[in-house]
Amino acid sequence: MKPSFNFDQVIDRRTTESEKWQFYGPDVLPLWIADMDFAAPPAVIQALMARVAHGVFGYPCELPEIHQAIVDWCAERYQWHITPDDIILIPGVITGFNLAAHAVAAPDGAILYQTPAYPPFLCVAENANIKEQVVELSRAEDGSYYVDETKFTESISSNSRMFLLCNPQNPTGRVFEKNELEKMAEICLRNNLIICSDEIHGDLIYSGHHHIPIASLDKEIAQNTITLFAPSKTFNIAGLEASIAVIQNPDLRQRFRQSGKGLLGWVNLMGLTAMLAAYREGKPWLEALLHYLEDNRDYLYEYIQNELPEIKMVKPQGTYLAWLDCRHAGLKQNPHKFFLQKAHVALNDGEKFGPGGSGFVRLNFGCPRVILQEALERMKNALREIR
Ligand SMILES: Cc1ncc(COP(=O)(O)O)c(C=O)c1O
Repeated sequence: MKPSFNFDQVIDRRTTESEKWQFYGPDVLPLWIADMDFAAPPAVIQALMARVAHGVFGYPCELPEIHQAIVDWCAERYQWHITPDDIILIPGVITGFNLAAHAVAAPDGAILYQTPAYPPFLCVAENANIKEQVVELSRAEDGSYYVDETKFTESISSNSRMFLLCNPQNPTGRVFEKNELEKMAEICLRNNLIICSDEIHGDLIYSGHHHIPIASLDKEIAQNTITLFAPSKTFNIAGLEASIAVIQNPDLRQRFRQSGKGLLGWVNLMGLTAMLAAYREGKPWLEALLHYLEDNRDYLYEYIQNELPEIKMVKPQGTYLAWLDCRHAGLKQNPHKFFLQKAHVALNDGEKFGPGGSGFVRLNFGCPRVILQEALERMKNALREIR
């Protein structure tokens, strides 16, 4: 019999140091920052409880089992064959791409990324005191996003050192296909750009789509790539701060390590415990989660089509984030502010995602269906007022 997990359960997070639930007032429903309102897999909770019950919280060591669990996860889910030595554990993916920028682009290089982009991408160049190069993803008539090869190539210059890729793409929910990844990788190789690929949403993919780690495409690309991912989005354990860098090229790995020396803390004990349990025992929970999220995505899509037709949405292929085009909704103000003030629903402000983000909001549907329903009702009522 298949195990059942209750994703419909509403868990109060207003008193648990939750950024998502405590940033705005108690009258606001938060569907913004990217964590989910579900409890972590029972296997993870049990492993953490056993660790707490032990009662001693000294410095941890990275057991070989953890590296092996990551190797097995990549092989089983993505037919991506890495070795334990390729892995560096880091406290966060944001830390990872900032370290990568310091390691490969500083002091006089530039980094390239595509927009609309996950907002911390917009600070990487400034953090590393280097230049940034931004290329907007192209948008088809139907609102879907794609990579224009010519535009991508033209955005590269002689001082470009690193391409910061996001796949699956936050906020658009695109899961890039093999040919798109091959094109981007080929252009990077031709122009001597290291690829830093943020694949944190890689396990959250819907029917008909497949996540392909760009480094799995071939050996030459693998040697040119830093891949970042984590169990944090997948198993909803982002607060435990345990993430992964896979770097198959030993020189690049050394440069990455070197850039964090003396500055970078260890991954904490609870994060290690949770990561091991998640990768070893979390699969049935993840399969159930993906069904629930896909139903949420479809519910959201239908609701928007039928009840909020002035907003345009393309179904995300992965992630639990929906990118809503409000440019023709007649709001006369920033849509984030509109929904916050008039509907008491907190969404992410598209303005913060760089060029191509203005007039959009990002909605996080990683929550029990009743919360999504309530938020949509509120949004509908707010829009009705101005129709
Ligand atoms: C694309 C992307 N990268 C990185 C992160 C954050 O990663 P971490 O919490 O491991 O730093 C997020 C969180 O929303 C994200 O969406």
